Amino acid sequence: MPPKIMVTGAAGQIGSELVTALRKKYGDRNILATDKAVTRSQVSAGVLEQLDVMHLSSVERAIRTHEIDTVYHLAAVLSAAGEANPDLAWDVNMDGLKNILDASARHGVRRIFWPSSIGVFGPDAPKTRAPQDAALNPTTMYGVTKVAGELLCAYYSGRHGLDVRSVRFPGLISSEAKPGGGTTDYAVEIFYSALQTGRYTCFLTEGTVLPMMYMPDALRAAISLMEADPAKVRLHTGYNIAAMSFSAGELASEIKKHVPDFSVTYAPDSRQAIADSWPKSIDDSAARRDWGWKESYDLPAMAADMLSKLGEKLGLKQKTFNASGGPGRRKR
Ligand code: SER
Repeated sequence: MPPKIMVTGAAGQIGSELVTALRKKYGDRNILATDKAVTRSQVSAGVLEQLDVMHLSSVERAIRTHEIDTVYHLAAVLSAAGEANPDLAWDVNMDGLKNILDASARHGVRRIFWPSSIGVFGPDAPKTRAPQDAALNPTTMYGVTKVAGELLCAYYSGRHGLDVRSVRFPGLISSEAKPGGGTTDYAVEIFYSALQTGRYTCFLTEGTVLPMMYMPDALRAAISLMEADPAKVRLHTGYNIAAMSFSAGELASEIKKHVPDFSVTYAPDSRQAIADSWPKSIDDSAARRDWGWKESYDLPAMAADMLSKLGEKLGLKQKTFNASGGPGRRKR
């Protein structure tokens, strides 16, 4: 029997691609895609249902009515938006998660995926290969909610027998829905600018290095963790996962291999302090050992694929840039 899955935040950066992947894998009728902001046409086409995770009774109704046994809870406020509005970040990220956990415990949901983040780390964590069990002292409200959220997930796993699974996602790069309000958003914006205007002003310094991942790998991480044998999932807080780390300057150079006239300037803003508080790379050996995590895309492969997908999406002719000419290759 396929799982009956509800996705929250389904219109967001991860959700919009995860829903497609889940529908392909488990069948359209087994996936309930929900978001707070939906259009009438999305509802009438059966693509999305309106659901605000802040309303416990609505969450309970959705789970009961659709006999949901699995939830991917993605609705959240990201790091930079969280610093602009810490109260909102706390409310959405904590109350929203607790509502999902409570409704799940009451109405027979068995398994939950909830994304944690590199935002759990603070300035005192090792900058290189930050370990799974590093001290978690974040300096953003986003990070505070991710650390508290991880603990809440582990608490509900122990106390209510819910099987909550989580990864600490790095910055995610994707060609479908744009991210919003994150510190790693530059790594998506830069691709749009390269193709649309040929220039980009980056809000982080050229030398800022952060851990990143391409969306196809992120989707595979979430789905394979959710399908892993329960005996192998030792951690119910959040697994470190990694794919690549690069500086803003290195990403710009990689894009320039395909778009030679692309020019980037650097004008760091308040997001620089957030980036500086996070590690440059993280050690994901626990995820590799426990449930076989392995990335497919490195920087060259990701950049080539992004440019080709985005070029197609934006309706650009192939001659505008050379998406296939770079050295990028998907790792096997
Ligand atoms: N991408 C997120 C952010 O920048 C980090 O998890 O907020």
